[in-house]
Amino acid sequence: MPRLLVTAGPTREPIDAVRFIGNRSSGRMGHAIATEAARRGWPTTLLLGPVTTPAPDGPRIERFQTGTELQDLLTHHWPSHDMLIMAAAVADFVPESRHAGKLSRRDGDLVLTLKPAPDLLTALAKSRRPDQTMVGFALEEAADLPERAAAKLQRKNLDAIVANPLAAMEAPDVDATLLTRDGACIEAPPGLSKPAFAAWLLDHLATIHDGTRSSTDRSLP
Ligand code: CTP
Repeated sequence: MPRLLVTAGPTREPIDAVRFIGNRSSGRMGHAIATEAARRGWPTTLLLGPVTTPAPDGPRIERFQTGTELQDLLTHHWPSHDMLIMAAAVADFVPESRHAGKLSRRDGDLVLTLKPAPDLLTALAKSRRPDQTMVGFALEEAADLPERAAAKLQRKNLDAIVANPLAAMEAPDVDATLLTRDGACIEAPPGLSKPAFAAWLLDHLATIHDGTRSSTDRSLP
């Protein structure tokens, strides 16, 4: 059984002591995946961002707020896991600096400078072991979803990527496609609930992970 590391939910990047830049991710996809994996008996760790839904009971839970906190947790936990499913909606841009205290309207116009955040998956892929399986999520406009998701799979050196249309954010149902490193494009049955999609996804990922492990075994002397 693979030891699974799942990330879920948004990041919050502070602007000042009370404000942040976040996103609309509910964390329900990663929550459903971690719940289903734990139900199957997979040793599961869920890195969970700031969401309102309660954390599931089965997996081990660690909480993060910012992308940097998530990066630190990933660096710590990834070496002891076999599979990573990166469902968290990590900030792509973060404020260049955090204002100490609370900004006041009386200070007048405010200009925020955002800088690109580090790509956590790409950084982890550089130090991965050959027996580890890495899975990303791509949320894109439906029109160019397959091409952009396939490009992300390659660019981030992943084993598989879940291609999701933008409408999936905050929706209860999923209409997603799983693209794999060897060029397979597997469509999930339409309109699955997030828990049903999680079960479908883990069935496929277990097969992909077995393939990764057996090709690693074959390459041993
Ligand atoms: N991701 C990450 N680190 C980031 C941003 C995203 O590891 N700073 C991960 C997400 O968790 C997801 C995958 O990368 O699994 C794709 O995220 P996405 O935001 O769609 O990709 P980007 O690399 O940010 O690509 P682009 O900005 O070109 O859409």
